[in-house]
Amino acid sequence: ADQTYDYDVLIIGSGPGGYVAAIRAAQLGLRTACVESRETLGGTCLNVGCIPSKAMLHASEYFDAAANGTMAKLGIKVTPELDLPTMHGQRLDAVKQLTGGIAFLFKKNKVTWLKGRGAFVDAHTVQIGEQTVTAKDVVIATGSSVTALPGVTVDNDKQIVVDSTGALELNKVPGHMVVIGGGVIGLELGSVWRRLGAKVTCVEYLDQILPGFDGEIRKESQKMFKKQGIEFRMSTKVTGVAVSGDKATVTVEPAAGGAAETIEADCVLVSIGRRPNTDGLALDKAGLSVNPRGQIETDHRFQTSVPGVWAIGDVIPGPMLAHKAEDEGIAVAENIAGLTGIVNHDVIPLVVYTWPEIAGVGLTEEAAAAKGEIKVGKFPMAGNSRAKTNHDPDGFVKIIADAKSDRVLGVWAIAVPAGTMIAEAGLAMEMGATSEDIAYTCHAHPTHSEAIKEAAMAVRGKAIHV
Ligand code: FAD
Ligand code: NAI
Repeated sequence: ADQTYDYDVLIIGSGPGGYVAAIRAAQLGLRTACVESRETLGGTCLNVGCIPSKAMLHASEYFDAAANGTMAKLGIKVTPELDLPTMHGQRLDAVKQLTGGIAFLFKKNKVTWLKGRGAFVDAHTVQIGEQTVTAKDVVIATGSSVTALPGVTVDNDKQIVVDSTGALELNKVPGHMVVIGGGVIGLELGSVWRRLGAKVTCVEYLDQILPGFDGEIRKESQKMFKKQGIEFRMSTKVTGVAVSGDKATVTVEPAAGGAAETIEADCVLVSIGRRPNTDGLALDKAGLSVNPRGQIETDHRFQTSVPGVWAIGDVIPGPMLAHKAEDEGIAVAENIAGLTGIVNHDVIPLVVYTWPEIAGVGLTEEAAAAKGEIKVGKFPMAGNSRAKTNHDPDGFVKIIADAKSDRVLGVWAIAVPAGTMIAEAGLAMEMGATSEDIAYTCHAHPTHSEAIKEAAMAVRGKAIHV
C-alpha cells in the first residue's frame, strides 16, 4: 500500500453505490474509508427509499387484500382494523436491521466509517468536520435528493405537504391525498395510502404515467391503477400549493396553458423526480464541475475528468436505481484495484413494486422499432395457470426481438411477481439469447415465469395457452 496517503480509497456516501464499493475495495485488499453524514449507513435506499417503501407496500397489500374482499374470495373472512403504529414499527425495524447489517459488514471487512459531511480540499484530500483525510483514490457516491417544485414548500413535520420521506411516515391516513407526479414514487406511495383508505388523485404533467417505460405498459398500468381507485389528472401542472390549518389547496392548470382550478387535499406528496447531491462538496477544489443536469460525468470505468477521482450511482447519469448504483460500486472498486469492472447499462431492470408489479429490461417497443425491424410476442397473465389460480389475471408479458437475428432486445411485464420474473429476462439478454432460446428453456409449472416462455413462443405466433 502507498503510505503517502491515509487510505487507498475514500468513498463519500454510504448508499448502495458507496457501501458496496467500500466493501468490494476492502475485499480487494485496499485500505478503505467511507464518509457518511447520516446517523446510519445505507443511504437513501435503506433509510428512506427502497426498503421502508417496500415495508409499507408489503403491509398495505395485506390490509387491502383483507379490506377489498380478495381474502374473502379465498375463504378467509376478516374485517381488518388498521394499527398504523405497528405498521410503522415493522418498517422502522426493517430499516434498523438492514442499516445495522451494513455497519456489521463494514466492521467485518475493516472499512472505516468517517462520520460527517465530506468536502474536497483537493483531488486527494477530503475535509470531514475538523478532520482532513487523504486518499489515493476518491469515489463520489453522494446520491440524490428530492427535486423541489417552485411554489410548493415541503414540510415533512407538519405532514400536509410532504416528499417521499414524509409520505412514508404519515401518522394518520389522509382523507384525500394529492400526488404530484405519476412516476415510480407517486404510484408506489400513492398505492400504499390508497390501500389504507385514502382517496388518491395523481396530477401528472405528461399525457402518460411512468416515463421511460414501454408505451403499452404505461397505458395498461394506468388502466389498472384507475380500476384500483386512483384518479388521474393528466397533462396537468401544479402551479402552487397553499396550506391553511390542516388542509392544502392545490392549484392546477392544463400543461398547455389555460384556466386554473383548485383541488382540496389533506396531504400533498411532491414526487416529480430527484436531483444529484453535489452541494457543499466543493467539487471545484478537486477540479470538477457538473453537467447541465447537475450530474458528474465519468468514463465507462467511472473515472471523472480528474484522475484518481471517481463517481457512481444517482450522482452520475443513468437511471436512479439502487441496483445500478450497487453494480457501479463493484465495478469502480475493481477498476481502482487494477481489475476490469464493467456495467452493461443496456440491461438494467426497472421495477415498480405495486400490485401487480410492473417491470422491464432493455429497449421499449418504441425504441426498438426506431432502431430496426422487430418481432413482438405477447402473452396475457390471464392465460397463465398460476396467475389464474391465484385470482390475479391482470397484466401480460411482452418480448421484443430483432426480426433477423431473433436476439431479445427488451422484455416488459405486468404480473404479481414481475420484479422477480424480470431477472430471467436480464440474464437472457446478457447471454445474447434469442427468443427461441427462451421458448425452448423448460420453465417449472405452475409458475408465473411460464408467461415469459409463452411470450417467447408468441414471438413466432406459437403460444399454447391463448
Ligand atoms: P444514496 O442512496 O442517495 O446515498 C448517498 C449517501 O451519501 C446518503 O446517505 C447521503 O447522506 C450521503 N452523502 C451525500 N453527500 C454527502 C457528503 N458530502 N458527505 C457525507 N455523506 C454524504 N431504487 C431501486 O432500485 N428500487 C427501489 O425500490 C427504490 N425505491 C425507492 C423509494 C424511494 C421513496 C426513493 C426516494 C428512492 C428509491 N429508489 C429505489 C432509488 C434508490 O434509493 C437510489 O437509486 C439509490 O439509493 C442510489 O444510491 P446511491 O448510493 O447513489 O446514493
Ligand atoms: P420520476 O422521474 O419517476 O417521475 C416523476 C413524474 O413527475 C414524471 O412522470 C414527470 O412527468 C412528472 N412531473 C414532473 N414535473 C411535474 C409537475 N410540475 N407537475 C406534475 N407532474 C410532474 O420521479 P419520482 O417518482 O420522484 O422518483 C425519483 C427516482 O427515484 C426515480 O428516478 C426512480 O428511479 C427512483 N425510484 C425507484 C423506485 C423503484 O425502482 N421501484 C421507487 C421509487 C423511486
